[in-house]
Order: sequence, then structure tokens, then C-alpha cells
Amino acid sequence: MTRSSAPGKVYLFGEHAVVYGEPAVPCAIERRARVGVERRSDATLRVHSDELSLDGFTVEYSGSTAGTPDIDADESLVNAAMGYVDEAIAQVREVAGETDAGFDVTIESDIPLGAGLGSSAAVVVAAIDAATRALGVELEPAELAERAYRTELAVQDGQASRADTFCSATGGAVRVEGDDCRSIEAPDLPFVIGFDGGAGDTGALVSGVRSLRDEYDFAADTIGSIGDLVRRGETVLEAGELDELGDLMDFNHGLLAALGVSSRSLDNMVWAARTAGAHGAKLTGAGGGGCIVALDPTPETETALRYLPGCESVFRAELAEDGVRRLE
Ligand code: PMV
Repeated sequence: MTRSSAPGKVYLFGEHAVVYGEPAVPCAIERRARVGVERRSDATLRVHSDELSLDGFTVEYSGSTAGTPDIDADESLVNAAMGYVDEAIAQVREVAGETDAGFDVTIESDIPLGAGLGSSAAVVVAAIDAATRALGVELEPAELAERAYRTELAVQDGQASRADTFCSATGGAVRVEGDDCRSIEAPDLPFVIGFDGGAGDTGALVSGVRSLRDEYDFAADTIGSIGDLVRRGETVLEAGELDELGDLMDFNHGLLAALGVSSRSLDNMVWAARTAGAHGAKLTGAGGGGCIVALDPTPETETALRYLPGCESVFRAELAEDGVRRLE
């Protein structure tokens, strides 16, 4: 058995605009997906998972995405997760030159699915790392990130940036601009994450922003403004100035809302965090529902979110210094 883990992430700045070549700064967080892999003697892929979301549910699943998992979670989300595993294994077979390798795959994750915390990237990175090692191949982080990116690209119909997968493979804070991905220095930020229990449809949200951008110059300008804000944010991050970082997160949330990707529950959580005295707060990831990230070293934001109707869970998350970890 080989086993690897990989972290989820929050976007400090820049989601959506990154799709159009603007820079983005995601940060890996200590919420991980763990994937165990055993090679089979036949070419079948069997996936088992007891826990794919914060609440936990059980899925007994085998074969490709055609199975009907018996689970207490949105079936489309689980099918999507399994689609990522199928494609990740296709990448592994290609990279190892073993087209008929079969595997038993076990997934555990404490990252909510489809909620803007990079659950799919974490599962894909950990799965590719564990499965390639099961075939005796060790990928460097850059190649692992590349294979994970190709997986997302294939599953998401060609609409994916390198941000999630690179961040999950390498850990820490990263800067992504087009094909240029690099690690950057960042202090351990006091992240508080609020989760509304929901999920957004990344593909539909990305397409929605694309239509707005095609139709209105203001939307194209908004995307450019997010890029300007990220460039400013990078220098502020290096200096560790929480007040200004928070202000920029607030701006970023406003610009994302203008692009139509926020929601009432995300806005409510953002405002609860701000009212509680957070340095700043914004949605993270594709939006539509899911998670917000706030900066607050005090317990106030956590308390406010815990009592906010519509916020299903709240937790602190530390910056994950490591990306992929080889557990067995
Ligand atoms: O919600 P997530 O974690 O899948 O993030 C999506 C981020 C987008 O910028 C909207 C799309 C992308 O591929 O970068």
C-alpha cells in the first residue's frame, strides 16, 4: 500500500480573474485529502471512501463513474469526485507507461466537496502521487502538479487554471499567472473559514463570468482590477500587514460579487466576519455557495459565524507548509 496526502487551499486573492491570465495567490491549508492505493492483479479501478466531506458520508463505489453510490450527499458531487479519480488514474497509467494497471483506491478527506477549498485538486494530487509510487515511479512536485492540472483540465472541459493543483502539490502560498507558478513567502495568516454547507458549480460560474466579460466592458475592467489588486496584495503579504491585506480581501469580494459569483449566504458570512472585527473577508474559490475566508487572530469571527444562521460550520485553518506528503 502506498498512501499520500495533499492539502486544500483558500484563495487569498484572484480567483476567476486567474482564468484570464491575471495573477492569483492561493494558500495551502492544513485540511487534507489522504489517498491510499494498492495495485490490483487485474485492470479494474475500485474506489472506497468513508469520508469525503466535513460531515462525513460513506460511499462504496467500484468501477468508473457509472456506479450508484449509497451516500448522504449530493450524488452529482460524488460522481464529480469519482470522475477526478478516474482521470487521475488515466494520467498515472500514461506517465508510468502501464496502460492496464488496476488499483484499489481509498480516499479520506476533511475538505468539503465543491466548496472552494480545492477538494478535487487535493484528491487528484494525492491519488496521482500514491498511484505512481505504487508503480515504482516517483514524480517531482512540478511534474505531479502538471499531471494534476491535466486531470482537472480533462474533467472540467478545458476550463481550469493551474492554481489549485500547483498549490496542493507544493504547499505554502503560491503565485500563479498563466503557466507561471511559483512559491512565495507568507507569514502564517489567521484564517477563519465559514462554510454554508453548500457548493457552487465551478463550470457554470466560470462560464457566467465569461459571458459577462464578453457582453460588458465593465466586467472585463473588473477582471483587470482584480489583477491590479493581486499585484498590490503580493507586496502587502510579504510585509505581513494584516490590516491592508484585509482591506484588499474586502475589495476582492466586492469585485467578485460584481461579477455575479457571490450568494446571499456567502455575503452574510462575509458581513458577519467584518462586523465581528475581522481584518477582511471574502468568498474563496468559484463561489455560488461554499466557503468564505476571513482574517482574524481573535476568537470573535469564529464566534459570530458559529451563531450565524446559514453558516453550517466554522474552523480555523493554518497555512500548510508542505504540499504532498508521502505517508506510506
Ligand atoms: O472553487 P474552486 O476551488 O474549484 O476554485 C475555482 C477557481 C476559479 O478561478 C474560479 C477557476 C480556476 O480554475 O481557477
